Amino acid sequence: MTSQMPAAQSPWVRVADAPSRIGQIIEVRGWLTHRRSSGKVQFLMLRDGSGVIQCVAGINDLTPAEWENCALLTQESAVVVRGALRADARSPGGVELGLSALRVVSVAEAYPISPKEHGVDFLMDHRHLWLRSARQQSILRIRAEVIAAFRDFMDGEGFVLVDAPVFTPNACEGTTTLFETSYFDEKAYLTQSGQLYEEAAAMAFGRVYCFGPAFRAEKSKTRRHLIEFWMMEPEWAFATLEDVIGLEERLLVTTVARVLDRRAADLSVLERNVSKLENVKAPFPRIHYTEAVERIRAAGLPFEWGNDLGSPDETALSSQFDRPVFVTNYPAAVKAFYMESDPSDARLSLSCDCLAPEGYGEIIGGGQRMESLERLTRRIEEHGLPQQAFEWYKDLRRFGSVPHAGFGIGVERTLAWIAGLDHVRESIPFPRMLNRLHP
Ligand code: 4AD
Ligand code: MG
Repeated sequence: MTSQMPAAQSPWVRVADAPSRIGQIIEVRGWLTHRRSSGKVQFLMLRDGSGVIQCVAGINDLTPAEWENCALLTQESAVVVRGALRADARSPGGVELGLSALRVVSVAEAYPISPKEHGVDFLMDHRHLWLRSARQQSILRIRAEVIAAFRDFMDGEGFVLVDAPVFTPNACEGTTTLFETSYFDEKAYLTQSGQLYEEAAAMAFGRVYCFGPAFRAEKSKTRRHLIEFWMMEPEWAFATLEDVIGLEERLLVTTVARVLDRRAADLSVLERNVSKLENVKAPFPRIHYTEAVERIRAAGLPFEWGNDLGSPDETALSSQFDRPVFVTNYPAAVKAFYMESDPSDARLSLSCDCLAPEGYGEIIGGGQRMESLERLTRRIEEHGLPQQAFEWYKDLRRFGSVPHAGFGIGVERTLAWIAGLDHVRESIPFPRMLNRLHP
């Protein structure tokens, strides 16, 4: 049933660009989302990834073979069509294509995803097809915008992109969540964070960042945890905790403003309450860990000073603000080995997490790094980590050690907040979770 497109040439136009082509004969290549027919007229809705366009063909507009083919088109069948583009206020995008040619590229089998409600497991099992739905496309378009915003922002601040390795010989964020793999005759781990390498790069370039995947064998089955997620990690030489908090604030304000500006249509598909995002203006509130403990208790949750914040604590705390909030000076005992001590209280560290509002919780973790070789050596000891594995890292303190600080921002948690998602599983194309490796 495949028919040849007549020889006449017309430009291949993306649906998103069609409104600038009214009055022209154009070609569109896409997939059928649905079709209806009134006997003598066929209405085809085509999506090409940039948008959806309504195509109309009367029985006399196509060859008899093309007309017959139309009736065989099922949802997700692929076609190339040609026609005259006209304005039509009632159609999506304000345009309609009056077909003069239709070529079938392939006819789809019965498509498993229909507009009716499907359970999450069913959709996750069909993630490779689910990506075609409007909602998933809007989420992933916003994801692309968030990533572009992160990188443009860092580049603009003079940070150099320095990639960190994925295979690593040792832990960065603690040994309990390492994914072990074999590396010829050695053991290796999938990276938990590029931070230690960025610290080395910061001593070369001054300001650096990496952007890549991170892997955590976390047994947590929450709406915030992925096994594989993407993180951007800036590291800044001669900078303090104060400096990176300012950088984080500017990064988030810029990113949210850019998504509001450029992805308004996608936010609207998601029915995101954008007035909440419009609140995201500097300055963000900053609260000391001890104040956070008081606020969590005041919210009615049992919480002991000295503990780390769990998801419910973060939810309780971040619901109290209309914009992201910084929680600073966590106890050293709940943070990684590399955190600098707080000179005003040896129990605390120069650390900071940024919690997103509306109950989303931690999206950024960061702080100032241990500067002195002696203190770092002691800390590695206290954390039960092998000194030998960190000799290269300790070299950074032997050769021109300076105060330095940085952070890691998770793409999926940031996106879940900006897009208003209730689970991170939709914020990454193919999520890897405790119970999910497929597809
Ligand atoms: O707080 P984390 O563990 O910090 C680090 O990895 C530091 N080395 C970063 C640095 O200072 N360079 O992770 C940072 C961020 C979190 O705030 C969160 O957004 C994200 O990474 N993240 C996760 N996202 C999804 N699923 C998980 N399991 C995540 N673990 C961390
Ligand atoms: Mg953290």
